Amino acid sequence: MKTKTRFALVGTGHRGSTMWGRDLVERWGEHVELIAVCDLNALRAERSSAHMGVSVPIYTDFDELLRVERPDLVIVCTRDNTHDDLIVKAMEAGANVISEKPMTTTAEKIKRILDAEKRTGKRLDVSFNYRFAPTAAKIKELLNSGVIGDVTSVDFHWYLNTSHGADYFRRWHAFAENSGSLFVHKATHHFDLLNWYLDSDPQTVSAFADLKHYGRKGPFRGTRCRTCPHKHQCDYFFDISKEPLLESLYEAPSEVDGYVRDACVFREEIDIPDTMVTAIHYKNGVDVSYSLNTYMPIEGHHIAFNGHKGRIELRQYEKQPWTEPPADEIVLMKNFGDVERIWVPHSSGGHYGGDDRLRNMLLKPGLNDELRQRAGARAGAMSVLCGIAALQSSRTGVPVSIAEVWGDDNGLNLLDGRP
Ligand SMILES: NC(=O)c1ccc[n+]([C@@H]2O[C@H](COP(=O)([O-])OP(=O)(O)OC[C@H]3O[C@@H](n4cnc5c(N)ncnc54)[C@H](O)[C@@H]3O)[C@@H](O)[C@H]2O)c1
Repeated sequence: MKTKTRFALVGTGHRGSTMWGRDLVERWGEHVELIAVCDLNALRAERSSAHMGVSVPIYTDFDELLRVERPDLVIVCTRDNTHDDLIVKAMEAGANVISEKPMTTTAEKIKRILDAEKRTGKRLDVSFNYRFAPTAAKIKELLNSGVIGDVTSVDFHWYLNTSHGADYFRRWHAFAENSGSLFVHKATHHFDLLNWYLDSDPQTVSAFADLKHYGRKGPFRGTRCRTCPHKHQCDYFFDISKEPLLESLYEAPSEVDGYVRDACVFREEIDIPDTMVTAIHYKNGVDVSYSLNTYMPIEGHHIAFNGHKGRIELRQYEKQPWTEPPADEIVLMKNFGDVERIWVPHSSGGHYGGDDRLRNMLLKPGLNDELRQRAGARAGAMSVLCGIAALQSSRTGVPVSIAEVWGDDNGLNLLDGRP
């Protein structure tokens, strides 16, 4: 008889309750069984269990969960700077781990995770769902085919709109201590895509970044939207009561831990940049120009790979106010030849179908991974190191090498031979 993987979910916020909670219970139940949940906030965990339609033991003490339940797999969906502790403890208790991105937020925390993985022989997967989007997979195939020759440079620009972008400034992400800044929290996806597309590691990073729109740059401020005296004049007013799941997971539970889901995007104390520009030099010689803007009328990205024989270009849009394109157009241009337009339909589900494909790869046995989309601790580490280097460079005004961020003590050898 086929045995199911017994998994525990730690972190029952929105991501845990949906992507790794209710969805797995409803659609991956043939392969996995949720046996327990853990959150520091028991009320949020109760609300989350109700949303998932399960009645499993709820823990506020993760050590106790590991001791009593002995899960095969732990899925970590907590605040970014708490991932390392939970990953290490889970592996030490004999479980494999899936961690939400970013894997963690500092070089020291990366080392703890890599060391635990090596020591325990357990495996960590990092949820880089963008690699699994059909358009990303098609671009990877084109690059692998050599159709534009060796890639020499990449233009990569990511845009977050006034809804999604602002959301990071409403929550704990707005403080570098929690999220490593959006260079780590958000750009970990983008740096990982680059590392995977280029099949190389970043070497040196140079960045400029500033807070130009949110935080202390705002015209006025309150504490949170629900009680704000400026709600009728603020473009960023967010009415959580219109979002039943958010209201349920965050409103009453905020009385337990003080975590409100609609904190003011203009809080004085916000300390992360909202406008980021970066140049990255890769080990294989490729140079990348990358930017991240967080208050745009568009949501999506532009990317172009420039090679000796041609160029691959994509403008991918999501949630546009004026149109919802059902497909992406990849434009393949040969330097001395034709232009080919390749249409890749969007798939249903989050991240253009990437979320479902990622979960299939991690949870269904026996799928092959021709494009090496499955990302482990090494990939998690490299993308975070790139983000840390970018933040450091933007603060100091000088280029920062990945080796420097990592520290000279044992080189980068902890990263050798890992997926
Ligand atoms: N891959 C993606 O596209 C994607 C999308 C959204 C979120 N995420 C990631 O998912 C994670 C969770 O995001 P969210 O928006 O649900 O966050 P959230 O803060 O709303 O929820 C996190 C939950 O973890 C709990 N928690 C914090 N520290 C804990 C600890 N030490 N032990 C137990 N519980 C703890 C909190 O009480 C909270 O309920 C983040 O790392 C985020 O980056 C990834």
